[in-house]
Amino acid sequence: MRKLIGPGKIKTAIFISGKGTNLKSLHKLSTKKNSPIKIEIVISNNSLAKGLDYATKHKIKQKIFDFKDKNKSEKEILKCLKKNQIFLICLAGFMKILSKSFIKKFKGKILNIHPSLLPKYKGLNTHQRAIENKDKYSGCTVHFVNSKLDSGKIIIQKKVRIFKNDDYKTLKKRILKQEHILYSKAIKKIFSNL
Ligand code: GRF
Repeated sequence: MRKLIGPGKIKTAIFISGKGTNLKSLHKLSTKKNSPIKIEIVISNNSLAKGLDYATKHKIKQKIFDFKDKNKSEKEILKCLKKNQIFLICLAGFMKILSKSFIKKFKGKILNIHPSLLPKYKGLNTHQRAIENKDKYSGCTVHFVNSKLDSGKIIIQKKVRIFKNDDYKTLKKRILKQEHILYSKAIKKIFSNL
């Protein structure tokens, strides 16, 4: 693996669409001395994503690709990743589905965080669905991205209890807190023993 990556920290791109709280937690990891990753760039499909303000504040390079023409945007992103010598992509609340051909080009090098205990509740509205099904637990999962939505190999999961009085907002808040811990743990798990 080390041979593949080269010396130094793993050059990483974070893809976001919204608030970017997972970006923040990954950035915190990346600023630690023993972090395996270094965030080189933040990529967003949404120019209004709050996470971009975080990137600006912390002087992280950022680029927006609007995905109006998905094929075109993906081609431009690939060029940008190449230019920045990116080895790893972390999807962090990125709300666009990447094409099979894009994923193939970064095979085994794209991670995602998903707010459920996969394989349960792929896709959207995970918290609402877990509550409606009267599940006792939900949680979050970090997994490799393959060509099927939320179906790649699971790296790590964290269970979170669902309480009787939870609504999707309270559950989402509790799970998001765990996501912030879990994403860094997953990265350390994959890359710390190179
Ligand atoms: C997180 O719950 C993530 O699991 C989901 O979208 C949310 C993004 O949150 N895919 P943030 O933008 O990182 O705050």
